[in-house]
Amino acid sequence: MKALVVGGSGYTGGELLRILSLHPKVDEVTATSRTYEGRDIPEAHPNLTKVLNGKFRQYKGAGDADIVFLCLPHTKSMEAVPELLNSGVKVIDLSADYRISDKQVFEKYYCIHKNPELLKKAVYGLPELNRAKIKKASLIANPGCYVTSALLGLIPLMGEKKLDLEHIIVDAKSGTSGAGVKPTQFLHASEVADNLKPYKVIGHRHQPEIDFILQGLNPNASVNFTPTLAPFSRGIQETIHIFGEIDDPVKIFEKKYAKEPFVRVVSESTVKNVAFSNYCDIAVFYDNEKQRLVVVSSIDNLIKGASGQAVENMNLMMGYGETEGLQTLPYHP
Ligand SMILES: NC(=O)c1ccc[n+]([C@@H]2O[C@H](COP(=O)([O-])OP(=O)(O)OC[C@H]3O[C@@H](n4cnc5c(N)ncnc54)[C@H](OP(=O)(O)O)[C@@H]3O)[C@@H](O)[C@H]2O)c1
Repeated sequence: MKALVVGGSGYTGGELLRILSLHPKVDEVTATSRTYEGRDIPEAHPNLTKVLNGKFRQYKGAGDADIVFLCLPHTKSMEAVPELLNSGVKVIDLSADYRISDKQVFEKYYCIHKNPELLKKAVYGLPELNRAKIKKASLIANPGCYVTSALLGLIPLMGEKKLDLEHIIVDAKSGTSGAGVKPTQFLHASEVADNLKPYKVIGHRHQPEIDFILQGLNPNASVNFTPTLAPFSRGIQETIHIFGEIDDPVKIFEKKYAKEPFVRVVSESTVKNVAFSNYCDIAVFYDNEKQRLVVVSSIDNLIKGASGQAVENMNLMMGYGETEGLQTLPYHP
């Protein structure tokens, strides 16, 4: 099987190249880049020295690839997707371009869509929610990183009638790789180190994506989402607060995720316990006196939040075992 990574010089592209280069079913992996065209892949990703020897090339469609991963900024994927689908190739888009299938909602938070007819064709690539649909899909909208962590922490609760699901609070912290490879002052070590920096406190674009997917399960669900930039390179941790009554919430999560290969219900959810892996660790607490449920959900933003989940989707689309190529474990200590 041949895979092409478009935008392969960036962070999610680099993670895909790393994962795919060891994937037992992938015979060839190639990558495109404008900045590194004609240069060796390890020039952008030195961790792949002696692992991936090819050169970056210019993007000219799918070529002989069976599957194409788009690791581009939003609005750029939608320029490539129609032609790719017409050529018969399977596409996994890591940008936000196809994640919100309602054109009006998408355009409210992003921009005019160039091919809105494809919004309904795309399958939202959260395997824990849409496994059966992903298996038959030709276009996958890979979920946002913050969104993955929030959804996995909230989906099991969508049927709980005594919880106040209209006022969910999601307090998120992310490492710097969530912002991509391009340096800015905001991401400068002097600004990030020894610091916690809330940003887009109100109005981050992942809030409507979380709401949109949750409302497909419970029309009343609504989150209030605030992200904070934290001084580590990779990882997301979200502390989710919901008020109301619930019986044995740990059991609800354990039952929901008992058969899921990449979701672990744990007593302590930390970034370090999931970093470099495709796991999402979820810890659940309930304060009986205050009737407050607290769910702590941690993922590696570049793996379960992006490239690992994309490979999980590829495995499902191609009929491979869901965990193939994704069995790397987190490190301890
Ligand atoms: N970082 C995360 O944790 C994360 C998680 C989930 C989803 N995502 C989403 O995944 C996508 C990629 O994210 P990333 O973090 O990998 O970004 P990134 O590190 O900035 O990489 C994006 C790559 O796309 C190429 N590119 C940039 N502008 C382009 C343009 N106008 N036309 C064509 N190519 C262009 C660049 O490569 P060249 O300049 O070499 O061509 C760049 O290396 C984004 O949509 C992002 O929102 C990111």
